[in-house]
Amino acid sequence: MVQIHDKSFIPYLSEAQIKEKIKVMAAGISKDYADKKPLFIAILNGAFMFASDLFKELTIDAEISFIKLASYSGTKSTGNVLTAIGLDTDINGRHVIIIEDIVDTGKTLSSFLPQLEHQSPASIKLAALLNKPEATTHPVKIDYLCFSIPNKFVVGYGLDYDGLGRNLKEIYQLDDHVLV
Ligand code: IMP
Ligand code: MG
Repeated sequence: MVQIHDKSFIPYLSEAQIKEKIKVMAAGISKDYADKKPLFIAILNGAFMFASDLFKELTIDAEISFIKLASYSGTKSTGNVLTAIGLDTDINGRHVIIIEDIVDTGKTLSSFLPQLEHQSPASIKLAALLNKPEATTHPVKIDYLCFSIPNKFVVGYGLDYDGLGRNLKEIYQLDDHVLV
């Protein structure tokens, strides 16, 4: 059990379970992208640890770049606009693989992926560590996934609760068992 700010979390996915799934994912990507020199784009902050472990397991030539997504209020017609900060690589004609920590509602990626498609990559695929299918409001296609999890808040292995918990080697789930 770990305590972060005001909440308790219980162990959910062990370091060994995570590493094992990542190895399988990396083997699949290495096979699918042999000779394609894919460009990985990892979304900060949450995906940094997953991106690092996944990238180490690849056995093919590949590049990696990191971006942050920031949302700001656009015009009335555009609503909230997402921009990518730090994308310094030309993706035109490249095989791109987005690395994301978790697809929750899908809102972030369903707004960001079409923006990338406008830059004419050869292909775009999505690799996610976690997905909460029950939380989906904006469906996105996840091409490579490690774990499908219930709709409960999780921390650790890069994911935070209000800034903390990213350094945990395992993934912990919110303990919603209320003591009275
Ligand atoms: P989405 O747009 O709802 O799919 O989620 C976008 C982002 O919310 C993810 O990339 C995470 O950074 C964050 N997020 C969603 N669920 C969790 C969670 O359970 N723990 C920590 N961060 C989360
Ligand atoms: Mg994220």
